[in-house]
Amino acid sequence: MGNGIAHVFAMNEIPVKLVDTNQELLDKAMQTIEKNLDRMVEKNKIETSHKVKTMDNISPGVDLEKAVEDVDLVVEAVPENYDLKEKIFQQLDEAAPDSAILASNTSSISISKLADATWRPKQVIGMHFFNPVPVMKLVEIVRGYETSDEVYQAVEDTARILDKTPVPVEDYPGFVSNRVLMPMINEAIFAVYEGVATPENVDSVMKLGMAHPMGPLRLADFIGLDVCLDILNVLYDGFKDPKYRPCPLLVKMVNAGKLGDKTGEGFFKHD
Ligand code: 3HC
Repeated sequence: MGNGIAHVFAMNEIPVKLVDTNQELLDKAMQTIEKNLDRMVEKNKIETSHKVKTMDNISPGVDLEKAVEDVDLVVEAVPENYDLKEKIFQQLDEAAPDSAILASNTSSISISKLADATWRPKQVIGMHFFNPVPVMKLVEIVRGYETSDEVYQAVEDTARILDKTPVPVEDYPGFVSNRVLMPMINEAIFAVYEGVATPENVDSVMKLGMAHPMGPLRLADFIGLDVCLDILNVLYDGFKDPKYRPCPLLVKMVNAGKLGDKTGEGFFKHD
């Protein structure tokens, strides 16, 4: 989601330093941003000059410490793995200015726990975007145990500058979005696992009967089946409630490397 987050900041005249672990990934991210901006130009949503300015506002780089040495806000969007995020937050805490806000785009990991990995827990917050980031209006803003009111307000104001609608939520597993979304996706997978219907038919029911823009299984492929499994595990561990247990079919597909759009195959095949 990092490229989408960079896209919306840069499009709203906020200079962005986009950091990834290697040049190849950065090149891919910049190509994706350019492709999505081209689509917006084609649909007359923005001028070509706006696209050019947006691209100019993004400076890609691989050196995290150097990139954050003079920033006001960091939005971390690394994979949903607590140990990895903890390491990144400790690095950010060392390298970013004392005044900087450290936000995480985590889908479900505890903001309070990430904050506790730093010396600035009042300045740690969740800024949870939704895919595709340039299109989806919501930013779920997650207040950790110690997040200050000033930091909350600054992040809410930032979300509005990005033309998004901020919604405040407290720091409990899955927040609101994934606490509601993931059980639906998991239940759709159980329906396939138990032979109630094919993936196509499960999705047709939800698209045609409930007016969802994508069926839950197409959406699971879009999000990434590994991400869905990680989030369900956070819900299951966090609430100790069997209603969140991941469907064995989901676990099996993730074990087999069928992760959805990003690997070309999940519940559906993707180009
Ligand atoms: N960048 C910019 N614009 C984009 C885009 C992108 N990456 N992807 C799509 N668009 C624009 C298109 O240009 C189009 O604009 P228009 O309406 O002005 O013509 C519009 O979005 C619709 O796109 P398409 O016509 O190509 O395709 P669809 O009508 O099928 O819509 C969709 C695609 C917007 C992805 C729609 O299917 C949708 O809303 N799906 C549900 C997405 C969703 O639920 N996301 C949340 C996932 S959960 C999450 O992210 C949280 C995490 O924690 C798991």
